[in-house]
Amino acid sequence: MLSTLRPQVSAITNSPKKSATEKMQAICELLKENVPYYDWVGFYFRNGDKEELKLGPYAGAPTDHTIIPFGKGICGQVAVSNQNFVVPDVKAQDNYIACSITVKAEIVVPLFLNGVNIGQIDIDSNTPDPFSEEDEHFLEYVNQEVSKIL
Ligand code: SME
Repeated sequence: MLSTLRPQVSAITNSPKKSATEKMQAICELLKENVPYYDWVGFYFRNGDKEELKLGPYAGAPTDHTIIPFGKGICGQVAVSNQNFVVPDVKAQDNYIACSITVKAEIVVPLFLNGVNIGQIDIDSNTPDPFSEEDEHFLEYVNQEVSKIL
């Protein structure tokens, strides 16, 4: 159950000793290790004033896509739509940036600071169609907790 991870996420964000980057890194690792269908977990943030996203902390295989222009791929679309984007089958998407041939599904949830979309959490799954509303609500919670430390 994803809800059992919520206190662990909050324990990380409330930890006095770590930097914000270290906390986000710990959250990525917590989620990747504890949710069997989360195979890559990462944060992207707006790159200064540019219309592009820059990769932040992540857990999983390294990706070439460290910069993603607004509008490109699932991540770039979420940067402009401000809405959750659940992709049950990545092959069915025209505007998709493949990171690994093993990825079957993706979910991206925007991260708001003072009502502004400043970034997102991105999860790739090697399992087809694994995401439900529970994932959306859980990842919204994660982003709210992270926004408190930014
Ligand atoms: N698939 C994403 C690119 C980022 S990787 O999943 C890490 C997209 O289409 O935006």
